[in-house]
Amino acid sequence: MKKILVTGGAGFIGSHTCVELLNQGYDLVVVDNLLHSNPKSLKVIEDITGKSLRFYQADIRDSKSLKAIFEAEKIDAVIHFAGLKVVNESSSLPLEYYDNNVSGTVTLLQVMKAFGCKNLIFSSSASVYGNEAPVPVSEDSPRSVMTPYGRTKLIVEDILTDLFSSDDDWNIVMLRYFNPVGAHHSGNLGEDPKGKPNNLMPYVTQVALGKLTKVYVFGGNYDTKDGTGVRDYIHVVDLARGHVAAIQKLKDQSGLSVYNLGTGKGSSVLELIQEMEQVIGTPIPYEIVDRRPGDIAVSYADVTKVQKELGWRAEYDLKRMCQDAWRWQTQHPHGFAE
Ligand code: NAD
Ligand code: UFG
Repeated sequence: MKKILVTGGAGFIGSHTCVELLNQGYDLVVVDNLLHSNPKSLKVIEDITGKSLRFYQADIRDSKSLKAIFEAEKIDAVIHFAGLKVVNESSSLPLEYYDNNVSGTVTLLQVMKAFGCKNLIFSSSASVYGNEAPVPVSEDSPRSVMTPYGRTKLIVEDILTDLFSSDDDWNIVMLRYFNPVGAHHSGNLGEDPKGKPNNLMPYVTQVALGKLTKVYVFGGNYDTKDGTGVRDYIHVVDLARGHVAAIQKLKDQSGLSVYNLGTGKGSSVLELIQEMEQVIGTPIPYEIVDRRPGDIAVSYADVTKVQKELGWRAEYDLKRMCQDAWRWQTQHPHGFAE
């Protein structure tokens, strides 16, 4: 596997993964429609690594453009990040989510098949576990979803399973991410949400910077250590390295596999806020409000399988996640837009 096509490579997780792949000597081709990203991230990837990649601005639903890319480049494997990811938004825009995440993936798979490229890593999500799975959540827990976003991930997992059943020349790794946060240590690459953040970490850093007034903690009466929701936050650089481990696993007849990418450790909303307060040295205002509909109390990963089979484990702790997220936020208060 030498040349990798990274869909959604200009986005948060894709860009950090490009850095790790270039550092390991892979040739990269990125396709992104830039709907939710800024092409400056691609320049930063090249600055950090001192290596170049080829970029095509295209939509994965556009099979003509994809075919042209596969004609021009001899792609060995695809890491497929491109998609829409805002859980709440998916309930009001289900058709956009099914079109982008499901139809877009089917188009990509059709083009891959036409060009004989049958090596794929897919960005799935811990959201496929729904609210029933006991913690730590293992890969064989029953799946159940609560939102259109989660259902797009579940449907694509099923499509990939059917595809593999029909043709075992495919080599597929499905990675279920827990809660990716943090930023590259340089402080020049990070999460760049448009408008008010939906996720906790960017919300906390924007409050800490004074861009937002306080953190609204969604629920203080869960059955958890301090009443607030517990999640498995994972440093985005660790997550990116999980993809390098997965690429190394893809080889002829390696089959279809699924792995959790998390740390195996749960932290509450208040613990994350307190860790960030330690890092920046000032209090972060917050208020406990009603639960957010659809949220679950506790989610963290069983990482036994991924450690055993991919030889990968997360290295960075919550403190490091906060330090790196804060460095990115202070060095780039307006993200890539400045
Ligand atoms: P992101 O929005 O930062 O990156 C996604 C990228 O895909 C963006 O650059 C966007 O412009 C591009 N894109 C979207 N639709 C496209 C299309 N039709 N054609 C081409 N490009 C398109 O998101 P991210 O956080 O980097 O997430 C990457 C993947 O990981 C997504 O599939 C997401 O569902 C999944 N995931 C993310 C999280 C998370 O919390 N960030 C958790 C679990 C799974
Ligand atoms: N939270 C707050 N206030 C906020 C934002 C979040 O209290 O302003 C709380 C939530 O209630 C939850 C925790 O912080 O307890 C984490 O919430 P996030 O929105 O950061 O993340 P989620 O766990 O809801 O979802 C994330 C991604 C999904 C992905 C899922 C599992 O957004 O795409 O992790 O991987 F599917």
